[in-house]
Amino acid sequence: MNRLGVLISGRGSNLQALIDAIRNAELNAEIAVVISNEPEASGLTRGQSAGIETLCINHRDYSPRERHDQAVVRALQERRVGLVCLAGYMRLVGKPLLDAFPNAILNIHPSLLPSFPGTDAQRQALDHGVKVSGVTVHIVTGELDGGPIVLQRTVPVMPGDSPDSLAARILIEEHQAYPAAVRIMLAGRWKIEGRRFVNA
Ligand code: GRF
Repeated sequence: MNRLGVLISGRGSNLQALIDAIRNAELNAEIAVVISNEPEASGLTRGQSAGIETLCINHRDYSPRERHDQAVVRALQERRVGLVCLAGYMRLVGKPLLDAFPNAILNIHPSLLPSFPGTDAQRQALDHGVKVSGVTVHIVTGELDGGPIVLQRTVPVMPGDSPDSLAARILIEEHQAYPAAVRIMLAGRWKIEGRRFVNA
């Protein structure tokens, strides 16, 4: 399982956190491939700079959308990836990926789920007026941002926060949380009970 495939769409700061954690021996894993659906994603450069194979599998080149998922699955399987990490991957994960990697796809989300799923989680949190938000790493299922929760960390909401200032504070916590959650997954002492991720 410790061969990772990281899927991105943008700047890839969480990808960088995984690269750094591996480099610092805080995470015993190898990133086998970085895949972006967006050709211009700056995260691709982070992968290349770290000497990792990077691929762009542009969703615009595939129709219907399952074909795109199938191409991603093929690329991951060819590289013997055991755990898929979504890191700012702005695509819904379809059945081909879910079937190929059961309980082996992680996502990181900038809120304490189940509060504020979907896009713009930080703005949703501010609009709601919560005093505490945070970060969630969860297993990806067919339910958007709804799979078993591996790890959560809290982040206080400050008076005067904007979506950007809250996002920046949450991001610092994300960069700690993602490698920690991957470590938990790779350690393997866990099971899924209903919708719960339980340490065994
Ligand atoms: C992060 O806030 C993550 O929680 C969300 O998308 C953002 C990606 O940031 N899923 P980055 O591309 O990893 O910098």
